[in-house]
Amino acid sequence: MRHTHVLVLGGSGFIGRYIVNFLINRGCRVTVPARRRDKAKHLIVFPTCDVIEANINDDAQLARLTAGQHAVINLVGILQGSEADFTRAHVDLTRRALAACQQHKVRRYLHMSALGADAQGPSMYQRSKGAAERVVRDCDLNWTILQPSVVFGAEDRFLNTFASLARFAPVIPLAGADVRFQPVWVEDVAHAFVNALDNPATFGQAYELAGPRIYTLRELVQFAATAAGHRRPVIGLPDGVARVQARLMELAPGEPLLSRDNLDSMKRDNVASVQPFTPAPELGIAHTPLEPEASLYLAGMHPRTRFGGFRAHARR
Ligand SMILES: NC(=O)c1ccc[n+]([C@@H]2O[C@H](COP(=O)([O-])OP(=O)(O)OC[C@H]3O[C@@H](n4cnc5c(N)ncnc54)[C@H](OP(=O)(O)O)[C@@H]3O)[C@@H](O)[C@H]2O)c1
Repeated sequence: MRHTHVLVLGGSGFIGRYIVNFLINRGCRVTVPARRRDKAKHLIVFPTCDVIEANINDDAQLARLTAGQHAVINLVGILQGSEADFTRAHVDLTRRALAACQQHKVRRYLHMSALGADAQGPSMYQRSKGAAERVVRDCDLNWTILQPSVVFGAEDRFLNTFASLARFAPVIPLAGADVRFQPVWVEDVAHAFVNALDNPATFGQAYELAGPRIYTLRELVQFAATAAGHRRPVIGLPDGVARVQARLMELAPGEPLLSRDNLDSMKRDNVASVQPFTPAPELGIAHTPLEPEASLYLAGMHPRTRFGGFRAHARR
């Protein structure tokens, strides 16, 4: 079956914008609920994308959005919060999205998890992602689960944050400096979702998504700083100091740069379980290396970041 009407929960975020774009390019009609419509303004310009201000944590609103769809993609995720916040955003919402699919006979469900998702994992993030996966695996829909390592792309908050930090910090103090990651390009992740959508070979399957190379966090930070034109020494912090640093960041207003839960996630490497990793052939995706692509946007030379810079300068 060709799934042409797709509801994308969490479609307003970093990865969501790519998935929505690729779905539109395939001729799909896409619905993106957003808590605030202006957060999805980059999607409003597409005539076949309906951005709807809605509260998807309300069952009646979620049911209305699901009615008439052929498939639901759930990308909702948070990196910070209390145990209750993680449970609500990852586990409860997944359960409710699946119930809405059952109610409206939507058979196809694609779920964004994460590498390291584990109901017994060391962090609230990993445990709630693992519990959500369990809910999906137990349902009788045609589900697919995708589990990326850290995702890089022009709007990422990972490498861009370190590049920004390097602009004003003469030295970068770093928690978890030796933890290993296998960064995967946002377009490869988005293609995995869109290619899996109509492919029955992906039903009932979970796929790890990782890039061609493993890096320590220290290497990634050094790369981001250098690519942004500010080579900086990186000093690994001992665990005790890192926890104090994270605690202080949690006390500051706004979303913390790093939380104690993020440190807990870094108790395990974030790399694919089989090395060397190659993406499953049925996903039909490329395996894009980090350096050439990320160097462009970290240096501010990527079209998206260039225009972002112009917009910020013009206060728009
Ligand atoms: N980025 C990575 O490196 C990475 C790696 C592995 C897995 N993932 C997973 O991929 C997914 C998308 O990540 P991302 O980087 O695109 O994150 P993002 O930019 O923060 O987007 C998250 C999306 O979820 C929505 N959302 C969050 N909490 C919500 C809530 N309580 N109710 C309704 N909507 C809520 C956000 O809506 P608003 O715009 O209204 O806030 C946004 O659309 C997440 O599940 C994440 O765990 C990401």
